[in-house]
Amino acid sequence: MQIPKFLTDKNLIPNVTINPNLNYLGTETAFGFGAEVLAVETSKKFPQVYKFHVGDTGPTTPEPIINVAIQALKNKMTKYGHFQGYPQVRKNIAKYWSELRGVEIKPENILLEPAGKSAIELALQTLITQEDKIIVQDPGYPVYESLAEFYHHGQVLHWQAYKDQEKQTLEFRVEDLEKLLQENKQVKLLVINTPQNPTGMVIGREKLEAVAELVKKYQFFVIFDDIYDQIVFGGRKHFSFISIPGMLDWTVNLNGYSKNYAMTGWRLGFVVAPVWLIEIFGRLAINKWSNVNKMEQIVAGAIYGDVELDGFKYPSIKDEVQEIINKDFIEYEKKGGFVSEALNLLKPFIVCNEAEGAFYLFPSFTRVLNLKYVKEDLKIENDVQLRNWLLYERGIATLSGLDFGGRGAGHIRFSYAEDRNRHIIPGMKYLLKVVIELIEKSGEVAPLKIEEVEVRVGELEKKYFA
Ligand SMILES: Cc1ncc(COP(=O)(O)O)c(C=O)c1O
Repeated sequence: MQIPKFLTDKNLIPNVTINPNLNYLGTETAFGFGAEVLAVETSKKFPQVYKFHVGDTGPTTPEPIINVAIQALKNKMTKYGHFQGYPQVRKNIAKYWSELRGVEIKPENILLEPAGKSAIELALQTLITQEDKIIVQDPGYPVYESLAEFYHHGQVLHWQAYKDQEKQTLEFRVEDLEKLLQENKQVKLLVINTPQNPTGMVIGREKLEAVAELVKKYQFFVIFDDIYDQIVFGGRKHFSFISIPGMLDWTVNLNGYSKNYAMTGWRLGFVVAPVWLIEIFGRLAINKWSNVNKMEQIVAGAIYGDVELDGFKYPSIKDEVQEIINKDFIEYEKKGGFVSEALNLLKPFIVCNEAEGAFYLFPSFTRVLNLKYVKEDLKIENDVQLRNWLLYERGIATLSGLDFGGRGAGHIRFSYAEDRNRHIIPGMKYLLKVVIELIEKSGEVAPLKIEEVEVRVGELEKKYFA
């Protein structure tokens, strides 16, 4: 009998055979580790646990959205809904999305789902046969690798980000992707996520157009995950893979309301794909979840236009919601710039990338991990152990690079979604002091003295938040 290795109490399982592939099912560490963070917090070991681990949004759902939901519930929209999403809801999404992406998207190209994530399984279950290969980004959002391994163990390939060892920077290079395609004949599916979790990197138009050329040459599908599409900084504009002529035919576009609209707990998303795929996804959806919550379908439509259902009217909340979330994005941008610069105060011990989008940064902690005191006294060997030490010994919650794939080794993922005054600013000051202590205890000279932290970070505070 094969017992899934992740089961905590292996004695609980009776003597029956269960799916052996469960041993290949990974996880999204943010959830499990989140529970550990909570436990440390309630233990009161630290006056405060600083939270840089969350994949959740900082702001709460805009009020107009909540009001539509309340109205829908008061109108007793509590029964089964349309399996694919009510036509008017999909029409509203299609209209908005067509304008946004500059490509014609019909209501038949859309399926409403319980959050963005559901599209991953739909795509894998529909497209992948036994001989097919799937390429996932490394580092990348871990659910892709986890589900691909679970369903198709041995068929998963990694598009590893190129690491410039001197600069400690990461980059997804198209030439590395092409090499994978040349070496592996039956690639059926590639996952591209931009803005990216965990790095916060944005993949721009030029690269996506180069990938589109590869799609034409090698004939494979793309899961294009742009769930953070509105959260881009520095004057950058998000560019969608489906905006490239012909690419909608090859794309499963995962999107939804979780991140842009601060609705992570609602579990509301949609997928845009060719009509034939949506028809298959719809059949799978009926078998899996029947339909998305009816009240939420109304919300999903009203965010983009007027909705009328069962004799009730729900006027569009598009403009007021956009105004609210635009402010959220400005706050993310400020926090991202602040955290990136604050971490770089300890260069070359910490080397942080620029905040380009989403609400993540993926600094290299390689030099911290190589410190004598860290290695020999604390016996920390990798970023997972460093993540644990930071939480359990210092009360700083982050995620480790390895939580996102082998290429993440030596990195720590910082989310800056949390509140600026409670977590981000004081947490950065505290973290820098903790790392300076590690540097000094190793007999090395830190670029900054502990006494200088308040002033130097204070300057950044003024630069970004004044
Ligand atoms: C890259 C990426 N894709 C998909 C998801 C899942 O989104 P949802 O909460 O809508 O299922 C996440 C959530 O963290 C994500 O980071």
